[in-house]
Amino acid sequence: MKVSYKVPATTANLGPGFDCLGMALPIYNIITIEETVMPSTGIEVNVMKDDDNAELLELNDLPEDKDNIVLKAVEMLYSLVGQEANELKININTNIPIARGLGSSASVIVGGLLAANELLGFPADEAALLSIATEAEGHPDNVAPALLGGLVMSSMEDDGSILYRKLNWPQEWHITACIPDFELATNVSRSVLPENVSLKDASFNSRRLAMLIHAINTKDVKLMKVALEDRLHQPYREKLIPGFKEIKEAFKHEEDVLGTVISGAGPAIIIISKNNILDKIQDTVKEIWDNFNIHSEIKNLTVELEGASKVE
Ligand code: HSE
Repeated sequence: MKVSYKVPATTANLGPGFDCLGMALPIYNIITIEETVMPSTGIEVNVMKDDDNAELLELNDLPEDKDNIVLKAVEMLYSLVGQEANELKININTNIPIARGLGSSASVIVGGLLAANELLGFPADEAALLSIATEAEGHPDNVAPALLGGLVMSSMEDDGSILYRKLNWPQEWHITACIPDFELATNVSRSVLPENVSLKDASFNSRRLAMLIHAINTKDVKLMKVALEDRLHQPYREKLIPGFKEIKEAFKHEEDVLGTVISGAGPAIIIISKNNILDKIQDTVKEIWDNFNIHSEIKNLTVELEGASKVE
C-alpha cells in the first residue's frame, strides 16, 4: 500500500505571536510512504527536489538515514500504537525552501504522520497527530497550520496536549514572502534568544498580540500597522538577517504596507500589504538585498486555507 500527502509551507510568529501563531502558504511538499512488499528490505528514505525551484532548494538538512525527521516522527506514531516501523519506503518531494523559516520541516513531519496514520488504519485523531508533530518539531506554530490550513493559534500545554483554534485571515491582505538565497537553521536562530526577557518587553508583546488578533478579526488596518511589532525574538534575530532592518525601514511609512516581519525563525521575510503595491514591494526588497549581494525570490501569496490533503 502506498499513501501520499501534500502539505503546505507555513509562516510562524507573525511578529508578536512568538511560538503560537502560524499561517499556511501555498507552496507544497509531497510525502509518500509505501509499505515495502518484500520482507526485510528495511527503511528507505529518498529526498527529491522539484526542479523548477532548484536554486533555493538545498537538501543537506534532510538526511536520508535514521536522522531523517520524517522517519523519526513516523517511528513515534508506530511506537504509540505498539508497532515497529520496519519495512517502509519514504519519498519526500520538496518544493518548500529548506531552513528559510517557511516550515519545511513541519510540512514533511505532518505529511509523514498523515501517511503513516493512514497505513496504520487511522489510530490517531487530529489532536494526537498534532501532539506528535509538535514533539517532533519542538513547537506547534508551524505544524498546526501545515495540518489545518489557514491562520492558526496554538499552544503546547504542560501535559503535552495542543490547544489550537483557526482564525480568519482577511483575504484582501496580501502576503509577500521574500526568500533569500542563504539558510538559517532554526536552532541557530533560537540560540540568539535570551533565556529571560524584561517585564516591559513581555508586556509590550502581550499588548501587540491582543491588538493583532483584534486587527485580524475586524480587518482594522490602523491597528494592524502597530500590532506586528515584537520585542521577544525579532530584535535578537535581526543581526542574522542582513537587510531585514533596511527592508523594514523602507516600508515603515508606506501607506499600503501593514507590516514587515521575520518569517518563523528566518531568514525569509513576510510583508503584509493591502491594495496593489506588490511590484513596488518586490523591486524594493530585491534592490536592498542586491546591495548585500543576496539573491532572492519574492513570492506574492494568499493564505492557504485547506492544509494538508491526500494526493489521490
Ligand atoms: N516559533 C518558532 C521560532 C518558529 O520562532 O523559533 C520556527 O520556525
